[in-house]
Amino acid sequence: MSKVTKTLFSDTEVEICEGSDKDNYIMAIESSCDETACAIVKNGREVIANVVASQIDIHKEYGGVIPEIAAREHLNSINPVIEEALLQSGLKAKDITAFAGTTGPGLVGCLLVGLNAAKTLALVHDKPFIGVNHLKAHICANYIDTDLKPPYIALLISGGHTQIIEVTSHKNINIIGETIDDAVGEAFDKVARLLGLPYPGGVKLDKMAQNGNSNAFSFPISKVDGYDFSFSGLKTAALREIKKLEGTDFSKEDFCASFQSCIAQTLLKKVKLALEEYPYKQIVLAGGVAANSEIRKVFLNLQNEGYNVFIPQLKYCTDNASMVASCAYFFEDVLDNINVEVFSRFKH
Ligand code: KG4
Ligand code: ZN
Repeated sequence: MSKVTKTLFSDTEVEICEGSDKDNYIMAIESSCDETACAIVKNGREVIANVVASQIDIHKEYGGVIPEIAAREHLNSINPVIEEALLQSGLKAKDITAFAGTTGPGLVGCLLVGLNAAKTLALVHDKPFIGVNHLKAHICANYIDTDLKPPYIALLISGGHTQIIEVTSHKNINIIGETIDDAVGEAFDKVARLLGLPYPGGVKLDKMAQNGNSNAFSFPISKVDGYDFSFSGLKTAALREIKKLEGTDFSKEDFCASFQSCIAQTLLKKVKLALEEYPYKQIVLAGGVAANSEIRKVFLNLQNEGYNVFIPQLKYCTDNASMVASCAYFFEDVLDNINVEVFSRFKH
């Protein structure tokens, strides 16, 4: 796959191409939610700088992300993360082949900070600019340090999305199933909050589950048709159970382990169903929830059934800019369009 793009002022052609004898260095910026991130990735797979400034400590106080505060924090962090990425890489801005930024989905005020920084860098240094979809970027976390190529089935599980995606090429993605209500990350975060665990709940719930018995509580696996998901029934069941247990000395560890196991089994069941109709041998997990230990375990077990399972390293599951740079390299995303705008909801 090769794409030829142009620098913004001098109109020089730049080839972004696998197997080219010239190395590509893409600098990307990600700021869609509460992480300000900048990375430089060589030839789509080799991370040479990865900087993430997390705002978790700021939003923890409120139990969730406050968009206005997040946008202001991005403004404070954006220049330092860019400088730090260049320092880590040992490169100068003139050595960068192209600049990339996340266009959406995400919080508009937050996206604007990173996208405008990336556009400005491209303009100032007369390099191509590439706008990248955040969800495709999550999938591309799986290209880092691997030899992954389409076709494959991807399970995207993040704070805002739950989708099964057929990736036939770097041009064609086909969403074959998605949640009809809550995203899986939302279910983790809401139930964690009900249990009194601090933000971000999913991570804490996973930690609690480590010492729990997953058979202690029984939660319903949703029965939505086809490849779609629903997590609102599970959330309500968890709420009802917590209300019932209030005032008793119940084991939160057991509760977390049982809840987490139910989610892992639900995801596994749907992906296995999808594999019957889309018989690919490669399965790719992506998004913040792919950091979950139980989900990783049950999907890795599919390797015993002849599948090749890809799951990003923990630091590339949650929001980061390396995945954005990798996506800019492999996927045919928005090229050379300095006028591309941010967007809040899913489109591709
Ligand atoms: O992909 P991500 O960083 O941001 C979005 O694009 O949404 O995903 C964040 C989500 C949050 O809901 C967070 O609680 C969840 O990923 N998460 C986890 C774990 N680590 C992060 N959920 C369950 N177990 C984890 N270990
Ligand atoms: Zn994300």
